[in-house]
Amino acid sequence: MILVTGATGHVGGELVRRLADAGRPVRAMTRRPARARLPEGVEAVYGDADDPASLAAAFAGVSGAFLMSAQAVGTAPGPTHDLALAQAAARAGVRRLVKLSVLDAGAGTDVIARWHAEAESAVTDPSRNWAWTLLRPGRFMSNALQWAGQLRTGDEVAVPFADRPAASVDPADLADIAAQALTADGHAGATYELSGPQSLTPVEELSVLGEVLGRALRANALPPQAARAGMERYGFPAEVVDAIMRRTLESDRGAEVLPTAEKLLGRPARTFAQWARAHTEAFGGATPS
Ligand SMILES: NC(=O)c1ccc[n+]([C@@H]2O[C@H](COP(=O)([O-])OP(=O)(O)OC[C@H]3O[C@@H](n4cnc5c(N)ncnc54)[C@H](OP(=O)(O)O)[C@@H]3O)[C@@H](O)[C@H]2O)c1
Repeated sequence: MILVTGATGHVGGELVRRLADAGRPVRAMTRRPARARLPEGVEAVYGDADDPASLAAAFAGVSGAFLMSAQAVGTAPGPTHDLALAQAAARAGVRRLVKLSVLDAGAGTDVIARWHAEAESAVTDPSRNWAWTLLRPGRFMSNALQWAGQLRTGDEVAVPFADRPAASVDPADLADIAAQALTADGHAGATYELSGPQSLTPVEELSVLGEVLGRALRANALPPQAARAGMERYGFPAEVVDAIMRRTLESDRGAEVLPTAEKLLGRPARTFAQWARAHTEAFGGATPS
C-alpha cells in the first residue's frame, strides 16, 4: 500500500491518479475524506499532521509513502508536520519514502534554510530503516492559480516580483517523478533538483496564459514594498518576510533550467503553455478536449 499525503493538493492529487492508473494500491490522506474526489479504488483516509493518532491510523500497513507538508515556514518553532509524518512512517515500518521538499533546501542560514534542513533530516536520518528520495523543485506553475480570482472580474492582475524569472515546474511532472521513485528501483538516496523547461517572469507567464485563454491580460507590477506589505498582512513572521524578499530579489537561482526533470521523465518537462491549456477551466475558460 502506498500512502499519499497532500492527496488533494497539486502534486499529491496528480500522484494519486498516476498510481491508481498503474494499478497500485493507494491510500489518499486528507483532513476531509468525505469531500475528496478520488479515482475509483483509491482509499481515502483521514489524516491531520497536527493529530498524531490520525497519522498512526493513516500509515498502518503502508510500505511506501509520499510526504509533503503544507505547514508554512515560521508558523511553528520548527517543521512539526514533517517531523510528525516521519515519526508515523517510522512507527509503521515504511520502507520507501519520497519527500516533496524545495529547491536549495537547507542552503544558507536564514529561517527558511533552517526549517527545510530540519524537515529533510527527518527523512534522510541514517538511523531510519527506509530508502528515501528527495524532490527539490523550484516555483510551481500552479502558483498562477492565485490569479484566477482577479481574472473572474477583469483582465488585470496584481503581480508581486513581476520581473523575477523562474523556471517554474508543472506539478504533474513532479507527480510523474514521485511515482517513479515510489515504484521503480534506482532512486534510493537521490536528491533531485527540479525545474521546468523555460525561464519566464510572472509577466511572461501571464502573457502566455492570456494567449491560451484568448484574452489580453495585463499585469499590474507591484513594487517590492507592496509585496512585503502583502505578506505581512497575510501574517507571515517578519523574519520569514525578510528571507523571502532577500531570496527573491537577490538570487536568480530559481531561474536556472535544470536538466534533471527531462532526464528522469525521458521526455521534455511540460511547458507553462501546456500547464495553462490543462487548467483553462480554473480561469473560466473552456475545458480542453
Ligand atoms: N508552490 C511552490 O512554488 C512550491 C515550490 C517548491 C516547493 N513547494 C512545496 O510543495 C508543497 C505544496 O504542494 P502542493 O502545491 O501539491 O500542495 P497544495 O496544493 O497547496 O495542497 C496542500 C495539501 O496539504 C494538505 N494539508 C493541509 N494542511 C494539512 C494538515 N494539517 N495535515 C495534513 N495535510 C494537510 C491539504 O490536504 P487537505 O486540505 O485535503 O487535508 C492539501 O492536500 C509545500 O510543501 C511547498 O513547500 C511549493
